[in-house]
Amino acid sequence: MRPHVVAQVAVSLDGRTAGFDADLARYYAMATLWQEDVTLVGADTILAQEGLLRAAPGGDSRASGPLLAVVDSRARVRSWEVLRGLGHWSDVLALYADQTPARPPDATTRELVTGYEQVDLEEVLRLLGRRGAEVVRVESGGALIGVLLELGLVDELALLVHPVIVGAGEPWCGATVRFRHAGTEVFSGGIVWSRYCLD
Ligand SMILES: NC(=O)c1ccc[n+]([C@@H]2O[C@H](COP(=O)([O-])OP(=O)(O)OC[C@H]3O[C@@H](n4cnc5c(N)ncnc54)[C@H](OP(=O)(O)O)[C@@H]3O)[C@@H](O)[C@H]2O)c1
Repeated sequence: MRPHVVAQVAVSLDGRTAGFDADLARYYAMATLWQEDVTLVGADTILAQEGLLRAAPGGDSRASGPLLAVVDSRARVRSWEVLRGLGHWSDVLALYADQTPARPPDATTRELVTGYEQVDLEEVLRLLGRRGAEVVRVESGGALIGVLLELGLVDELALLVHPVIVGAGEPWCGATVRFRHAGTEVFSGGIVWSRYCLD
């Protein structure tokens, strides 16, 4: 069975996911609500952190943590060992496609190959479910979430809305998807946490 997929995203009042100072402490505190089995992340989200990752001290994985799965059909991510050693995830899984460029012969990262040019997200979720994943939390600046929304693969959307207009940027989903409001909390600084479930 496909796992429950929750997309968590920090947004501005005009729905942008970048170009403002997101309250990351709050974002990651709220992320603990789901105790996900798999954190599904877009490659561009990892690449945006590369500077920080380079400076991260090496450590160990956390056996009880979720699996980190990164959609990376172009094999752009290089920091697998650092990600594994951050002490948050139990392991890392590279999600590749048939046409993904060849990996170095000594690469040790676990991989899952689906799709031809791009990762087949539906197949990935099916396979993760078959391996026992019940909850997948998606972290993305919107591009990966947009694709998942268009494919009807998002069961829950959790928005951390920041009281700022950014005024630039692209919409992250080209499809109309209806959700049912499932709850809202207001935090200090006027940050609003709203959860929506698929209607
Ligand atoms: N506000 C927030 O909550 C939040 C959260 C995370 C990140 N961010 C920010 O957002 C930015 C990065 O996010 P982003 O939205 O640009 O990218 P992203 O969602 O991190 O990455 C885009 C992902 O979508 C995949 N993809 C695109 N089209 C696809 C398709 N048709 N089928 C399968 N996979 C597809 C790409 O795969 P390939 O690489 O394989 O093509 C890539 O892995 C950074 O600035 C980051 O700091 C914000």
